[in-house]
Amino acid sequence: MQIIKSPEEMQRLALDLKRSGQTIGFVPTMGFLHDGHLSLMRLARPKCDVLVVSIFVNPTQFGPNEDLDAYPRDFERDEQLCADESVDMIFYPEPGNMYAAGASVWVDEESLSGVLCGESRPGHFRGVCTVVAKLFNLVQPDLAVFGEKDAQQLRIIERMVRDLNFPIEIVRGPILREADGLAMSSRNKYLSAEQRKNALCLRRSLDAVCLNFEQGEKNVSSLRKTMAELIDAVSGAEIDYISFVDDASLEPVESVQFSTLVALAVKFGSTRLIDNTILVP
Ligand code: PAF
Repeated sequence: MQIIKSPEEMQRLALDLKRSGQTIGFVPTMGFLHDGHLSLMRLARPKCDVLVVSIFVNPTQFGPNEDLDAYPRDFERDEQLCADESVDMIFYPEPGNMYAAGASVWVDEESLSGVLCGESRPGHFRGVCTVVAKLFNLVQPDLAVFGEKDAQQLRIIERMVRDLNFPIEIVRGPILREADGLAMSSRNKYLSAEQRKNALCLRRSLDAVCLNFEQGEKNVSSLRKTMAELIDAVSGAEIDYISFVDDASLEPVESVQFSTLVALAVKFGSTRLIDNTILVP
């Protein structure tokens, strides 16, 4: 397994691979890998000749009061996990090498980015789109895998690939959960034992909404109320948003008539967790 730190070298190697007819699969990450990331690698591995994983905590997607410096990092452990998944290359750039001094070009998605996490984290998706576009140019993948837990990010990347004509297939990786139902996330590490237990209310509220919907409830205010009551009953849980949006346009819906993404973000102290499900009538 090669570890490549220089963006120029990454691009040169990728272009050489493409010229020799090899296909490249790509899993972009910010490191501190967990089973959710590994499941994305397992999805990509059989679909490509060369599997590249990037590990880069992208500063431009963090707001001024967010956890950039505290974001968990453990490269040695990540390296071993990638080796175990038969990854061929880790792209591990230094923050200083990824953005030119005075960089002034950004990729800004203007339709799907204003709601859900985009509303609570202004500028976040501009940072995500810009770094993912840069990573696509450096890694030259034929396919890239993104997890369904970041449902909005996934849809925005799909839109970017469509609108900017990236010749890349985006593969959706299902949400991976801990045995008790908590969606896997690098941020789970920040939770105290008490918060970890309380965080199960995200999944409980999604299960409840699915059950209500199966029993015939389509009205969004009633479905949202069920979820909010379950979360508000949990000490230390602070709802950032509970949103019901059209699964494709991310526009808010009042009644579940078409495929609807139910997405929520809940804070426990300074840790913000997200989760989602899709209701299909
Ligand atoms: O989902 C993530 O880990 C990040 O947003 C990504 C896609 C690696 C871009 O920095």
